[in-house]
Amino acid sequence: MKVVIVGAGNVASVLGRLIKKSKHEILQVISRDAANASVLATELNCAFADNSGVIDKTADLYLIAVTDTAMSELDETYHLGDKLVVHTAGSISKDVLKNITNRYGVLYPLQSLRKQNMDLHQDIPLLVDANTEEAITILQNFALTISGDVSIANDELRLKLHVAAVLVSNFTNHLYALAFEYCSKEGADFKLLLPLIEETALRLRNHVPNEMRTGPAIRKDIKTLEKHLRLLAAYPKIHHLYLKITDSIMDQ
Ligand SMILES: NC(=O)c1ccc[n+]([C@@H]2O[C@H](COP(=O)([O-])OP(=O)(O)OC[C@H]3O[C@@H](n4cnc5c(N)ncnc54)[C@H](OP(=O)(O)O)[C@@H]3O)[C@@H](O)[C@H]2O)c1
Repeated sequence: MKVVIVGAGNVASVLGRLIKKSKHEILQVISRDAANASVLATELNCAFADNSGVIDKTADLYLIAVTDTAMSELDETYHLGDKLVVHTAGSISKDVLKNITNRYGVLYPLQSLRKQNMDLHQDIPLLVDANTEEAITILQNFALTISGDVSIANDELRLKLHVAAVLVSNFTNHLYALAFEYCSKEGADFKLLLPLIEETALRLRNHVPNEMRTGPAIRKDIKTLEKHLRLLAAYPKIHHLYLKITDSIMDQ
């Protein structure tokens, strides 16, 4: 397929690389900042423009990978008739594109994407949706050329998965950040925890999370919990979360 990419950030870069690798033809990268568009366009060997430039109208697919807040401003910029246009956001309805085109949908990567150091060998789960059956089929077939892990998910299901993604990725990473800060201040090496982090995540390939619960809260080991809380007295933010999460585990 011939593809135009709008955006030059993490998702545009990672999906752009996969699209190129799968032998589709990327015609153009458009982004707010021409310099960013130029960097990605050079890598993908295609033309580029900034937001005020002319969009190439000859593509089969327009992939909009801009920030969630920028998405609502797009209908003032682009009018693409009946071209197939998709966005990549988890929590935004496909209908945000209805003033741009008659055929629109979503290609949502259910993965945390970074343009630097991203391993492109593992399939990225892709959730597709569109406003017509014909567009869903086209998108599904396109998605299967760049990933072996493709599902159909409407706006409602995608939003639910987005919530779950925040819990398992953003929230756990916040806990890692707090633990990192705590270790640094207490002279403990955070890297010693990496095998534990990996093992805990990898177990979920074969078990449901509830079966894998360990630690003082699930054992209702009050003495250990009190020792921990005394150590955390100097870290009110961590102390607060420790209590809340301990309560939540004990309530289950
Ligand atoms: N990163 C992830 O892990 C991930 C995963 C799944 C879905 N998503 C979704 O994918 C979309 C893109 O995310 P991202 O991580 O790629 O974001 P990003 O790295 O921050 O890149 C955002 C892009 O949006 C452009 N942009 C920002 N404001 C704009 C505006 N007012 N008008 C036009 N373009 C504007 C930026 O352009 P310039 O930099 O050129 O100014 C940049 O190219 C979002 O909807 C996000 O929710 C992200």
